[in-house]
Amino acid sequence: MHCFRKVKDDLIFIGANDRRLALFEHVYPLPYGVSYNSYLLLDEKTAIFDCVDKSVSEVFFSNIEYLLKGKSPDYLIVQHMEPDHSATLDDFIRRYPDTKIVCNAKTLAMIKQYFGFDADSRSIVVKEGDALSTGRHNLSFYMAPMVHWPEVMVTYDATDKILFSADAFGIFGSMDGALFADEVDFEKDYMDEARRYYTNIVGKYGPQTLALLNKAASLDIRIICPLHGFVWRKDLDIFIDKYQKWGSYTPEAKGALILVGSVYGNTENAADILASRLSEAGVKVAVRDVSKTHFSFILSDAFKYSHIVFACSTYNNGIFTNMENLVHDFVAHNLQNRKVSYIQNGSWVPASAKLIAEQMQKLKNMETLGEVFTIKSSLKEEQLPELYALADAIAKDINNSL
Ligand SMILES: Cc1cc2nc3c(=O)[nH]c(=O)nc-3n(C[C@H](O)[C@H](O)[C@H](O)COP(=O)(O)O)c2cc1C
Ligand SMILES: [Fe+2]
Ligand SMILES: [Fe+2]
Repeated sequence: MHCFRKVKDDLIFIGANDRRLALFEHVYPLPYGVSYNSYLLLDEKTAIFDCVDKSVSEVFFSNIEYLLKGKSPDYLIVQHMEPDHSATLDDFIRRYPDTKIVCNAKTLAMIKQYFGFDADSRSIVVKEGDALSTGRHNLSFYMAPMVHWPEVMVTYDATDKILFSADAFGIFGSMDGALFADEVDFEKDYMDEARRYYTNIVGKYGPQTLALLNKAASLDIRIICPLHGFVWRKDLDIFIDKYQKWGSYTPEAKGALILVGSVYGNTENAADILASRLSEAGVKVAVRDVSKTHFSFILSDAFKYSHIVFACSTYNNGIFTNMENLVHDFVAHNLQNRKVSYIQNGSWVPASAKLIAEQMQKLKNMETLGEVFTIKSSLKEEQLPELYALADAIAKDINNSL
């Protein structure tokens, strides 16, 4: 059965929510689901902005059928070929063989990689700045490579000043009846999942994200229609400011994120003492157990906080396994501009701090703060002054920069 909402009288949201999927990209947990957005523009010529994931294809096709009363859409604008938006493209073409696909040359090549239908004869190939009129609406296309795949483009509707932003400004989380960000308490209820989406999915490509923001800054944008999550029609700056921060790897919050990788709990004990001392000094602290909390949440926290403390056991002469994976994930996502400190533990040769620090050196502007604090198996009373000294160095650095 159809289920849609109006963005404007002539622009209809025809996507849907998937609350069943456990892992987005078969990697990222989706505790609150995800939406796959698609938009139908009802003009002299009708245009659809992107298809949807297979899981929600039934509602998507019902919406088109109902709203167009069985007529074929004139244009399907393909902004991104990732299958969460384009897996239904061949089904779409089987249903609507006369619809013209509007896409760039890279997208056309990818369509042919994914599907066997004749894409060449059906496509209108566009490039940076090209225009398409649907009647009242004047659309133009802008390339946004690597936000989040190489072929990504976004579309600007100069008539109603709408940016169709592809994966940019997307979030994890379903839209439970609400369509607009101003219909929910976005900052309280959705910003964490927005950050987790950006940092994990696009976070590696900060410079490309900033390049897109630069292009967008020259356009008069009143509404943003992303491919996941809410449409923005008010207070766009709230989200754009976050994107500026995330894209430039600038911490959002002064505070310490303490990451614990501990087999038997002794390293965690030191981390808790450090956390208490920091808290007493007025520092905002978050402690995460890297074995228990999925890395996607921790990467998101790492983009949020200014200071990171690695508290980690040594494991087979290496970094404790889950911490090792996390550290590689930080490197893979190009995390930058953080102050880092180390607590290490080992029962024979403690080595985790040095090994983590070697990885951090691969990243830009990661500054070590305080001395490495080393535990041999369990923390001793006489070591407390040294642990407090580390906490005080971190607290001083944070409080001085507040
Ligand atoms: C499988 C395994 C391998 C370990 N390998 C090392 C090692 O190579 N070097 C070392 O100094 N300690 C090693 N340890 C000891 C850990 O670092 C030990 O768990 C730590 O000293 C105690 O801290 P925790 O209670 O936080 O785990 C290993 C422990 C386990 C269980
Ligand atoms: Fe994507
Ligand atoms: Fe996507």
